[in-house]
Amino acid sequence: MIRSEILGTGSYLPEKVVTNKDWEKMVDTSDEWITTRTGIKERHFAAENEATSDLVVEASKKAIEDAKINKEDIDLIIVGTISSDNAYPSTANWVQKKLGIKPIPSFDISAACSGFLYGLIVADSFIKIGAAKKVLVAGAEIMTRIMNWEDRNTCVLFGDGAGAVVLGPTDEDKGILSTYWGADGNLGDLLKQPAGGSAMPATHETVDKKLHAVYMEGNKVFKHAVLRMQEAAIKALELANLTGNDVDLYIPHQANIRIIEATIERAKIPLEKTFINIDKIANISAATIPIGLDQAKKTGRIKPGDNVLMSAFGGGLTWAGIVVRF
Ligand code: UT7
Repeated sequence: MIRSEILGTGSYLPEKVVTNKDWEKMVDTSDEWITTRTGIKERHFAAENEATSDLVVEASKKAIEDAKINKEDIDLIIVGTISSDNAYPSTANWVQKKLGIKPIPSFDISAACSGFLYGLIVADSFIKIGAAKKVLVAGAEIMTRIMNWEDRNTCVLFGDGAGAVVLGPTDEDKGILSTYWGADGNLGDLLKQPAGGSAMPATHETVDKKLHAVYMEGNKVFKHAVLRMQEAAIKALELANLTGNDVDLYIPHQANIRIIEATIERAKIPLEKTFINIDKIANISAATIPIGLDQAKKTGRIKPGDNVLMSAFGGGLTWAGIVVRF
């Protein structure tokens, strides 16, 4: 039976760090509010000359090196992002160009914070049917480019960065054991970037009203986030015939420490087996999980044979859960 295994990981965080204390000087907020309500302490901001594809390129170079493959072996590129370089071409197209890889299929996935896991699920399917042998899957965002700096409810929550993996086939007892995903467009209005698309093209008015920025009804999203994160984690475990006890490491999407705590309580996963970096990177939407995966791997928190659970939730609304054995 062919499964997909993660051959290598990489991540990139822009140099500039913005702390909660820095935010106190910019909007009406406090370190105390941000820390207690979310768990966030600091986040990275991309430099002015960096586009989302540049972040992917940095993360991808490390993932390709870690996978010990030649970049010419890659036959598919998938990037999860909601802050692409342009409306089109896709960020993945720019990545193919900037990495200097031969013309191969490359496309973006728009599933907000679930974008990387959606990408992994798609890549896994291509590998299982033999349509791809080495897939570069990334999650990347420059969220600070799509923020309304006057909306303190939302702007303090996000940061910038990218993570990438190389996926390839294996016939050993490891790799992606289960995948679970879902979406509910009925709740799409709770978290969206209202203007700039065909429904509301850019005008002076949309710019003045800051409708090209992320709009989130945080409180309502929170309730769905808790339920769907729990559902995604538990279903992915069930599909892999595992329970919370079998999890060696859980890498949750990092939107709010309170969502993570509620999820691990319900899925019966101990806190010490949960990877938490929200304090350092905040919410980087689709980039959050691949960055966590890379950091966990490079710091020795993932060993051969470990069962790693990942689950995410985001705008759409979308959600996904995956179990991978290393
Ligand atoms: O990435 C995946 C999708 N996103 C999520 O999963 C995010 C889900 N939502 C959340 O994490 C939380 O709802 C937030 C962190 C966004 C907000 O936390 P909350 O505990 O739900 O706060 P709230 O929206 O109920 O606001 C409580 C109070 C309000 O004041 P009043 O009306 O009680 O006087 C807000 O105005 O906190 C106020 N507030 C702030 N105060 C200081 C909101 N933002 C700030 C701020 N600094 N930055």
